[in-house]
Amino acid sequence: MPPGPPLHATPRLLRALVTDRIGLMTEAVRYGEAARLRMGPKHLYVFDSAEAAKHVLADNAANYVKGIGLVQARRAIGDGLLTSEGELWRTQRALIRPAFTARRITAQADVVAKEAVALAERLAARVGQGPVDVPDEMTGLTLGVLGRTLLDTDLLTATPGVQAGIGRAFEAVQDQAMFEMVTLSAVPTWLPLPGQLRFRRARRHLERLVAAMVAERARRPDGDDVLSRLVASAAAEPDPAVGRRRVRDELVTLLLAGHETTASTLSWSLHHLDRHPGVAERLRAEAREVLGGRPPEAGDLRRITYTGQVVAEAMRLHPPVWMLPRQALADDVVAGWDVPRGADVAISPYTLHRNPAYWPDPERFDPDRFAPDAPGGRPRYAYIPFGGGPRFCVGSQLGTMEAVFVLAVLARDLRLRGLPSRAAVPEPMLSLRVRGGLPMTVHRA
Ligand code: HEM
Repeated sequence: MPPGPPLHATPRLLRALVTDRIGLMTEAVRYGEAARLRMGPKHLYVFDSAEAAKHVLADNAANYVKGIGLVQARRAIGDGLLTSEGELWRTQRALIRPAFTARRITAQADVVAKEAVALAERLAARVGQGPVDVPDEMTGLTLGVLGRTLLDTDLLTATPGVQAGIGRAFEAVQDQAMFEMVTLSAVPTWLPLPGQLRFRRARRHLERLVAAMVAERARRPDGDDVLSRLVASAAAEPDPAVGRRRVRDELVTLLLAGHETTASTLSWSLHHLDRHPGVAERLRAEAREVLGGRPPEAGDLRRITYTGQVVAEAMRLHPPVWMLPRQALADDVVAGWDVPRGADVAISPYTLHRNPAYWPDPERFDPDRFAPDAPGGRPRYAYIPFGGGPRFCVGSQLGTMEAVFVLAVLARDLRLRGLPSRAAVPEPMLSLRVRGGLPMTVHRA
């Protein structure tokens, strides 16, 4: 049985689930590559090795379903690709995956580049003025890209206030998911508690938004984007209510999974660039040399490689998906440790990406770790910002292209500076946010 804190630490651990989830993971890995935390009547097994990550996520993935946090989020986002299991997941993944092939994503490079340039122009208008809230700006960008690339919809202008609405809705959803997680779902969901009421309003908001998108698409049904594919497949469903629910769940899931993660990657990347002027200078030089004054194009991804390294290193230190929760369906042995049926298992990219066994001087921000000529020998599962195995992120290429293009264009033209008085503290919700936002002032480069 893996070691862990003594029984009397349980109340403190449960509190830490609410107030300091990163601290909790960090405490767990102090026990070594496997730890067992007592969470009330349940045990949470935390693993911190590439071997365990590979076993749980890939080699024996069939023995695991999604676990704490995501199970609670399912009440809001439904059975979309992120939370569904078994046959439903397989069918839906087969339906959605073709929209994310490398060829398709490449074809969308122009759209992403246009959005990146528009963002740089918006920010340039703020030179010499007060700070902008970087996560907010990045969320606007990623929602715009998501709408135009996958849904063939102008999400932001089609529905006024949609960004704030989606932001508030997902916040309420995440708050409630975390609340249910730490109370082990023991508080009845029909109780009219403030969080519960906010959650219900959020769910209604998302449902209305998605229903409007579906109704609009049903009027021009011939597209080949994800939304059109979903609407067509729902129409083929014998029970219309099932079809409607399926399309709603997938859309809400894509809206959530497709924008927060990339926005988080960008916000943390800009934070690190601000803290490491030498890295920012090198990135700027690369962007100017490769792009000159033009927008990026698909082929540039092979040429702006240092920018790619910066994104990779930002996702190492601040992986947007900071924890991958699973639940064991049957008894298993993970990296030599017994895991009983029904156990909650956590693989945390946040701690794994800082494990000194794989990352020398792990707290140091050093994009050269990902240089093509960097010393090899790191196991593949020591770095899992996009997960691994069958549940690997469908949007990894789109998210990466977005982050690389935006950083290159911003660094070429502008310099964003954080406020000296503000530390950037990670806030682990379903994605890794910056607590209280990240205000930065904008300057010409
Ligand atoms: C830098 C940006 C991104 C990061 C770091 C990221 C990370 C991840 C991770 C770690 C998972 C696996 C979760 C698990 O195994 O429990 C995942 C799954 C997923 N991601 Fe992403 N993601 C990003 C961008 C995107 C984008 C742009 C989209 C869609 C437009 C997307 C859609 C999804 C979906 C639908 C899943 C569920 C896949 C499945 O279970 O079959 N992601 N993502």
